[in-house]
Amino acid sequence: MKYKKNILITGGAGFIGSHSVRLMVNKYPDYHIINLDALTYAGNLENLKDVESAENYTFVQADILNTEAIEEIFRDYQITDVMHYAAESHVDRSITDPLAFLKTNILGTVNLMQVAKAAWAGELDQHVFYHVSTDEVYGSLGPEGFFHETTAYDPQSPYSASKASSDHFVRAYANTYGMNIKISNCSNNYGPNQFPEKLIPLMINNIRHSKALPVYGDGTNIRDWLYVVDHVIAIDEIFHNGKSGETYNIGGNNELQNIELVHLLCDLMDDKMGQPKGTARKLITFVKDRPGHDHRYAIDNTKLTTELGWEPSLTVEEGMRKTIDWYWDNQEWMDHVTSGAYRQYYEKQYS
Ligand code: NAD
Ligand code: DAU
Repeated sequence: MKYKKNILITGGAGFIGSHSVRLMVNKYPDYHIINLDALTYAGNLENLKDVESAENYTFVQADILNTEAIEEIFRDYQITDVMHYAAESHVDRSITDPLAFLKTNILGTVNLMQVAKAAWAGELDQHVFYHVSTDEVYGSLGPEGFFHETTAYDPQSPYSASKASSDHFVRAYANTYGMNIKISNCSNNYGPNQFPEKLIPLMINNIRHSKALPVYGDGTNIRDWLYVVDHVIAIDEIFHNGKSGETYNIGGNNELQNIELVHLLCDLMDDKMGQPKGTARKLITFVKDRPGHDHRYAIDNTKLTTELGWEPSLTVEEGMRKTIDWYWDNQEWMDHVTSGAYRQYYEKQYS
């Protein structure tokens, strides 16, 4: 075999997947990285311009629901391991179209595992199926406590219900068939290349255009923010050194109320745009709350930090500065992704 491993990364044209593809292609020239992505509204090959001509990188456009296409990819590239990122990922969209989430996140994951199980028959222990999941499967916290790996699942939105279901299926494939699986459940990511339906890039883009900043409810909901590159570094670590069959929580110890975060973004953007402090804050508009809005997420990452020595590398302010700089320097990227169907989505969601 020409390469030591042929790793299939699904959803590699999306936000987190593209950072993972970049890390794996650059860090492991002896691995062949095959990026499988359906290129939905969230998939964007512009995210990968810097690695698209690397010798150890291949892109294949395919849907994880398409069994034949996946089988062909496993055959053609002799896939040795999977890192599974592909998903419908936005909670608000799951509220308007839950079936799309059921199809991709549950059926798509099971389809992928079926193909992997058949391709790796007789040597399942030698191949890793890594499932990328979310802290939202644990539900919503009150003011106290954290999500641990042992916290009971209690998903509250169609998105988190679909991710919880896929996690259960992945564990069932380990328990029933002996697949060598690893799962990580991560808190909210932010950073370059995030689609502007999500809070941070949406706010940055709206501030840039002096548009209203829609804060759901009273803005006191809490999220635990992690810079996206730290997330994919953790995944690389768990993929190589984590224990088979285990779950790892990943989080940045960066809890903020939404309104605190929006204030921080406003102040940093005022700086960037050379406008008086307080200008962007005037754009904040409290809007109707998200139905079933989870109050607080917070990760206990002790298992990951103690077992594998991983640590988040940035404070939230450093990360936000880097993120704002990236969006500022890549306005063309934002203009491209907001030019088409995004406008209709935005009108429907915020009118
Ligand atoms: P994203 O929406 O930016 O990207 C998803 C990618 O999957 C896109 O490139 C899309 O084209 C692709 N895709 C969607 N449906 C597909 C299908 N049927 N077949 C093949 N490809 C398909 O998502 P993201 O924010 O990068 O999240 C990636 C993964 O990480 C998801 O599984 C998500 O649940 C998980 N996660 C996300 C966060 C976060 O804060 N964004 C946190 C924890 C976990
Ligand atoms: O916790 C991990 C999860 O984080 C991931 O699994 C999801 O894929 C990812 O989308 C994210 O989910 P959230 O719902 O927390 O992220 P979002 O950016 O949509 O919202 C963050 C918070 O900001 C949430 O409390 C809702 C609020 N919000 C969001 C938007 C889009 C607003 O107040 N206004 C908005 O316009």
